[in-house]
Amino acid sequence: MNSFYMPVRVLEGKDIVISSTNLLKKFGKIALLVTGKHSAKANGSYNDVITALDNVDIEHILYDDIEENPSVETIMKARDFALRQNVDFVIGIGGGSPLDAAKAISLMIYHKDEDKDYLYKTGSDSSHVPLVLIPTTCGSGSEATAVSVLTLHEKQTKKSISHLIFAELALIDGKYLMTLPHKTLCSTAIDAFTHMVESYINTKASDYSNMCVEKGLLIWSRSLDVLRGSRELTIDDCDNLMRASMMGGMSIAQCGTTIPHGLSYSLTYKKHIAHGMAVGYFTAGYLAKANQIDAKHILNLAGFKDVADYQSFFTEIYKACDIPDIDDDVLYGAVEDVLKTPVKLEITPYEVSRQDLIDIAFYSCYGA
Ligand SMILES: [Fe+2]
Repeated sequence: MNSFYMPVRVLEGKDIVISSTNLLKKFGKIALLVTGKHSAKANGSYNDVITALDNVDIEHILYDDIEENPSVETIMKARDFALRQNVDFVIGIGGGSPLDAAKAISLMIYHKDEDKDYLYKTGSDSSHVPLVLIPTTCGSGSEATAVSVLTLHEKQTKKSISHLIFAELALIDGKYLMTLPHKTLCSTAIDAFTHMVESYINTKASDYSNMCVEKGLLIWSRSLDVLRGSRELTIDDCDNLMRASMMGGMSIAQCGTTIPHGLSYSLTYKKHIAHGMAVGYFTAGYLAKANQIDAKHILNLAGFKDVADYQSFFTEIYKACDIPDIDDDVLYGAVEDVLKTPVKLEITPYEVSRQDLIDIAFYSCYGA
């Protein structure tokens, strides 16, 4: 069976937040703005949201204490804060962390008498208060997906909550990328690339999801030289990278992430490596074991000749980002994490043994 479900209303364009004022009115009278500490204020997105809300007399309160890879504890703190302020709806602004947090907070505001265990209670009601998402990085695609990944300190890793939460509205404006540090631009762009790779090399891939992947990779490839640092970023690059990220989100919302994402979580938790770089670390190994016609097809669309070409691009960026070496025990731990998450293996379209996972995990160190 083929299916495609993406119920988020997506509006994209210059100054789209301000021109969408009237759409926000239907969500209620008091909005909770969920952001990280600084970037939403630095890139202008916070000001645009305030202007839009003030224009239609919607009250707003700010929760700007969302850390990178937000924890369950942060979600509960934000939820309790929102309940004290009688919030009607949530606006998440930022990269994957604030957007994923906003989804979980919108769920827990609706289920106001539940405690943190509800986030991981399978089969329970996933109703949530209305949710608007405004991405300011070009990687997570969270604005198009229903997934919210949180940090579980007691398990020393990250894990998706048990609820699928699609936003009512996503507002996309490439201008917010213009002030993004180059390292963050690279890391998040690589995350978008991996979403498209893992959607294509996936048992759930269909012509519908591949439509997003193939077009998204072509759009993504237009800014490859910017990521390499050989050309200045333009507003067209920003629009393209933001759109490719959205298409990565749309495809991953259908297919789910596979082995590279599964391997990445403990790198991020234990070595504090940015999500996109942690996932991209395993992409060459994942592609090297895939059907080579499929691998070459998507690599060519993205502007790479073959797996080795992608690997050398990634290594160049990885070194430029000053990422520390990864100890063998962290990589072996990442393999064990994936073995405990059978769904990642089930949607991988080739047989994967423990040794195959080790090969993928160590591919970046030793190559083919
Ligand atoms: Fe990702």
